[in-house]
Amino acid sequence: MTSVTVKAPGKINLALHVGPKDSAGYHDLLTVFQAVNVWETLTAEDAPEFSLTVTGDVVLDEIPLDENNLVIQAARAAQRVTGHGGAAAFHVDKKVPVGGGMAGGSADAAAALIAVDALWGTNLSQVQLLELASELGSDVPFMLEGYTQIGRGRGHLLEGVESLPFFWVVVPQPLHLSTPLVYSTLDELRGDSAPALPTAPSQALLDALFAGEAHALAQELVNDLAAPALTLAPQIQSVLDSGTRLGALAGMVSGSGPTCVFLAEDADHQARLADGFDAEGHYVLRASSPARGAHRLRR
Ligand code: C5P
Repeated sequence: MTSVTVKAPGKINLALHVGPKDSAGYHDLLTVFQAVNVWETLTAEDAPEFSLTVTGDVVLDEIPLDENNLVIQAARAAQRVTGHGGAAAFHVDKKVPVGGGMAGGSADAAAALIAVDALWGTNLSQVQLLELASELGSDVPFMLEGYTQIGRGRGHLLEGVESLPFFWVVVPQPLHLSTPLVYSTLDELRGDSAPALPTAPSQALLDALFAGEAHALAQELVNDLAAPALTLAPQIQSVLDSGTRLGALAGMVSGSGPTCVFLAEDADHQARLADGFDAEGHYVLRASSPARGAHRLRR
C-alpha cells in the first residue's frame, strides 16, 4: 500500500466536570464527549522521511509542521512499538477550528495512528492503539472511539453511552486559547477549593441523549472550563448572548474554548439559527452528533 486516507471528527463536551489536580499537573475529569461531523482528513503516503503539510478553511498559522505536531509524534510512537522502519508524508485537510476546544489536533493524532498502522501493515489492536493514544494526549483515545463516551481520569478512560442525533451550530472564534492556560486559570479562580467530582453524569443527561430530547439536553449542558475561558476571552460572552437572542436551546463554550456551540431543536431550527449568526457576521459551521471516530476511507 502506498497511500491511506483517514477521517477523524471534532468533539464537544456535553458535560465537563473538572476535579482536583494530580501530582503530574493533570486534573481529574468526569466528562461526556460527543463527536460531531466536522471532519479532519489525513492522508499518509510512503516516504523516506516524515513530513507534514496542512490546508483547510481554518486559521492555520499556529500549527507546527515539525516534530511538535501530534501527527508526527503519533507516527513516531507507532514506529517505537511496532519496530517498523518506514516513514510517511502526511497531509491534513482541517475543518475543526485550531486551538478552539474541539480537539482537532487530537483528531489528527488518532487519524495518524490509524493511517500508519494501515500503511505499514502493522496490525495494531484497538487496545494497543488506545494505549498509544493516551500517551499522546487526553482527548486522543476518544477520537479513536468517537460517538458518545463518558470520559474519566484525564478524559482517557472511556465508557460508551447511547445517543440519538442532535443538531448544533458551531461558532469558531478568531482567537486561540491554550488548554494548559485555561486549566491554570480555573485553578486560580478556585483557589484551594476544587470541588469533588460527581461519580457519574446526571441521569437526566443520559436520558436526554438516549431519547434524543434536545430540550431536555439543553438543561443539562455544563462546562467547568467556561468560567476560565470567559475570564481569558471575555468577548465570547457576546457570542453566547447572540445565541440566546437568536433562540438557541442552549449555548456553551466547547471544552477549553473559545469555540462556542449552540444546540438546535432539529435540522430546520439549526438552519435558521445558522442563518441568524451568519446575518450578524459570524462564521458558522453546522454540525450533527454523534459521529464516528477516526476511520479509514477505502476507495
Ligand atoms: O493531555 P493533553 O496534552 O491534551 O493536555 C494538555 C494540557 O491540558 C495538560 O498539559 C494540562 O495542563 C491540561 N489538562 C489537565 N487535565 C486534564 C487534561 C488536560 O490539566 N485532564
